[in-house]
Amino acid sequence: MVLQVQFEAGDVTRAMNAYMRQQGANLEDFLKAIEHDLGGPLFKLLHVGNDFAHGTPNKHGQFPNLHARAYVDNIGTKAALLYVSLKPFLGVLRRRQAGQHPDSSFVEGVGDLVSTLLQMCVYVPITPQVEALGEISPERASLLRQAELWTSLVVYTANSFFSRRSEQDRYFLSGDVMTFAGSFPNTANMYFDSPYVQPIVSQADYFTHAVLPLIQNVLQHALNPENNIYGRPESCFFAVGTKDDPAKKELTFSIADKGYGIRPEILPHIFDRGVTTKPDRETEHGIGLWSVKRFVEEHGGSIQATTELGKGTFIQFTIPYSRKEGHFCVQ
Ligand SMILES: Nc1ncnc2c1ncn2[C@@H]1O[C@H](COP(=O)(O)OP(=O)(O)OP(=O)(O)O)[C@@H](O)[C@H]1O
Ligand SMILES: [Mg+2]
Repeated sequence: MVLQVQFEAGDVTRAMNAYMRQQGANLEDFLKAIEHDLGGPLFKLLHVGNDFAHGTPNKHGQFPNLHARAYVDNIGTKAALLYVSLKPFLGVLRRRQAGQHPDSSFVEGVGDLVSTLLQMCVYVPITPQVEALGEISPERASLLRQAELWTSLVVYTANSFFSRRSEQDRYFLSGDVMTFAGSFPNTANMYFDSPYVQPIVSQADYFTHAVLPLIQNVLQHALNPENNIYGRPESCFFAVGTKDDPAKKELTFSIADKGYGIRPEILPHIFDRGVTTKPDRETEHGIGLWSVKRFVEEHGGSIQATTELGKGTFIQFTIPYSRKEGHFCVQ
């Protein structure tokens, strides 16, 4: 898997301006989305990196050699750096939009983000590079695979905000899902089953606004030990697919995982803003499902979740289409 940063400093302003040209666009929403969507995987990455390099032997297996620790420690440090620089970075974007920024601080702020992301790409694939440095315990090997996954997601998410993708007027949901699946680092404990998505062409970016947050949830929650109420094995696969209902002119997109399930105390409220089991209180959470629901409903669909504790979670949302001509045409 080759990980690439698909934007440069200038693209950040361009993406922000493109966003602001949309009807009813609110800069704060855009900035919050960046902070939230990048902050989530970065937070995970810095913790996993820290556990690998500093975690105790009774919890994370024998310490690996110093080179391996230093290697992963470096990735964790970069994640921490990005995480703490998110707020100042958004401040720079805010001032830029208000016309109060000095150009130099803008270029510096954005340049740091781009160069740290580029450096992170150099570390991927993480597992083989660290394994070449010496033997590591199975627990630490599992942390490495998680670090790889979060690193990919950080770069993927940044690309989805700032690459020219945000200016497209047509999106190919099926193609986006296949591309993501092709670059997904399947691991022994998290496996993305081959997707079955029918050819869908839409004006709205369903992948970024609906599918990616749901996949992020699987990665962040389905195997989170805190949700392990019924003691399931430490592995999970998830699958996405679509089904057509020609009578209703409606597609159903589903995402199913074989993880621990959604905790019963929050299940009735998962689509409400702010409902979360995440411990991180610095960034606002409980936004994922709320915003997916809002996006799906704005485009004429509906969303539902079912879950069985210890067995998994099934989320499906509908996408109304206007016609079918080899592919489904969606608003
Ligand atoms: N696939 C899943 N398996 C288990 N629990 C899940 C799953 N998806 C969602 N949840 C639960 O639903 C809660 C709400 O999800 P939501 O995406 O709205 O917020 P979040 O993931 O906690 O925070 P964020 O705003 O970063 O997305 C999660 O905190 C988690 O407890
Ligand atoms: Mg979420």
